[in-house]
Order: sequence, then structure tokens, then C-alpha cells
Amino acid sequence: MKIVVLAGGISTERTVSLVSGTGVCQALRRKGHQAILVDMFMGLENPPADLNTLFDAPDGLCPDVKIEVQAPDLDVVRRSRPDQSPSRIGPHVLDICRLADIVFLGLHGQDGEDGRIQATLDLLGVPYTGAGYLGSAIAMDKIAAKEMMDANGIPNPKWQKLTYTEEEIPQLAETLPMPCVVKAPTGGSSLGVYLPKDRAELADALRQVRSFCHEVLVEQRIYGRELTDAVLGERYLPPVETFPSVENFDYEAKYQAGGAKEICPAELTEEQAKAVGEMALRVHKALGLAVYSRTDMIMDENGQLWCLEANSLPGMTPTSFVPKEAAAVGISYDDLCEEIVRQSLK
Ligand code: DAL
Ligand code: MG
Repeated sequence: MKIVVLAGGISTERTVSLVSGTGVCQALRRKGHQAILVDMFMGLENPPADLNTLFDAPDGLCPDVKIEVQAPDLDVVRRSRPDQSPSRIGPHVLDICRLADIVFLGLHGQDGEDGRIQATLDLLGVPYTGAGYLGSAIAMDKIAAKEMMDANGIPNPKWQKLTYTEEEIPQLAETLPMPCVVKAPTGGSSLGVYLPKDRAELADALRQVRSFCHEVLVEQRIYGRELTDAVLGERYLPPVETFPSVENFDYEAKYQAGGAKEICPAELTEEQAKAVGEMALRVHKALGLAVYSRTDMIMDENGQLWCLEANSLPGMTPTSFVPKEAAAVGISYDDLCEEIVRQSLK
């Protein structure tokens, strides 16, 4: 099959996405597909006369893909775009997608995980992997997702949506219930998530999030075991438990070797593992997700499960959670990537 793996883009998770996309592209090539990696934002500066010839690239990389190893400076990325246009889809990207049998979405965060590229591909009539535009948009917006969870009776930490001025911050910081978590509603990989230890830090968090978001999500902080579980097709996989090595498991800790210990399958009783899997399935269905997703949860000291969020395009690097969970039931990384394609075409 001719497969375009779309990655990159301009989200804050650009780098992770390029690593996911590279892994997926290589896996699909090993499975015999004509897969090529395309950076959604950068596109192609010098396309060949016949775009079809791109699918014959021996390494599966489009000529202009540059895999950045460091955290992305989005301004540098934006400035280096060949055509300098304000469009968030690079030159020729949609033309290449049109030639593919399917587009594998290796994107995370803005433009990739939020339904925009899904809606664009729908309009072009090009099949793609994972959820459609509506489920993607709902899952990406933590406030919309919480509204759906509440409507479906899925336990999630108590929350409020706030909009406030700079002048209102001191008063809010004095009165909001603690301990709480302050979140940018559309962040990913823990970016824009603050765990204030005291009211001064709360004020600071409220100030920070307000500087890049209009609406701010403040939720009750639940302490307990950090679990995450994927859905693949109609079933759930064995969950992972993470043991962060630092209290604030932020973006850097998340992607640093040794940033967290992960155990898969998590050490749970059969009953607990079933409850975790069933919550992942319920959330997947309630938010309108499809093919695969990953739901993050906390199990408190009473054994009660709380849903934190669902990821419609979870990390797909060879060492990400979903590939780990698949491996625990004997599905290799390469088979998982192909299975996602197969199920998306059903
Ligand atoms: N947002 C990251 C990629 C994840 O959920 O795995
Ligand atoms: Mg997330």
C-alpha cells in the first residue's frame, strides 16, 4: 500500500511526533508498504515532477524532512518554512496525501490531534488512521472531554472552567480549593500542566496558563497510582503503571531516559485490571474515538479510578506506552502499526 505518514506540524509536541512518525514509517516499510514520512508543516520545497516517485524513496523519507533531535523552537521552525506562507500545511502536502491509499497520522497536539487534519482529509476523500474529526476535537479539548465524561457518568476529578483578568488572580489564588491542577485545555505531553504546591505557586500557574489560553481548566488533584490504558479496535490492552522519578512529571521528565519507571502489565488484581480496561473502553466510546486511543487515569487509595484524559493519537514511538501494551499481548510494533492501518480502512 502507498502510505503517507504525516508528522511534525507546528504543535508543541512536534519533536515527539517526528519520532513517532519515523518509527511508524520504518515499521510499515518493514511490512512491505511504500510508506513515506512527510512533515506536515514543512512540506516539500523541491517536489519531483511526478509526486508518485516519492513513494520509491529507499529510506521512506521525503527529501525535505529533517528530524530534529532537540526540543523544537517553533519560531525557528516557522521561519524555516520554504514558502514562508501563513498556512499551517506545507507546500504539496495535500497533493502527496491524495496519492496515498491511507494517511497514517503520526501527529500529536495542535492541527493533528484536534480534528483539523481529519476534517481536511475528509474533504479530500483520503482515508486516515484513528478517530474522525469530531472525536479528535472533543478529546483534545480537556474541557469538552470533561463535559462528555460527566454526561456519560465517567468519574473524573472535579473541575471548573475559568476565565479571569490579571487583577482577579490574587483573589482566585486565595479561594480556589487546594490541592489542584491548573491546565491549559489543549495541551499535550503535560505541557501547560501545573501542580502548585502552595497558593503562591497557584497564582503563578494561573498567570502562566492565562498568558497562552483564554479558558483555564482547574481540577481537583487526586493522588494515587498513575495508570494508562490503550484501546485497540474493540478491546483494551494490558495497562501500564508509571512511577515518575520526579514529583512534577513534566515534558522533559516524560521524554528523558530514566524519567519514569514503567511497568506493563501494571501490577493489579484481575478485577482492578478489568476496571481500568473498561474505563478506557468507556471513555473511548463516550468521546467518539475510533481504532485506537489511550486513556490516562489515577487510582486513589480507596481503589477508585478517576479518568484524567484520553489521547486520540497517543505517542507511537517504538518505546511509547501503546506499543508496550501491544507487546504484552504478543503484538509487535510493526504488526501494531499495520493493524492500525487495517482497522482504519474497515
Ligand atoms: N501526547 C503524547 C504524545 C501521548 O499522549 O502519548
Ligand atoms: Mg495527552
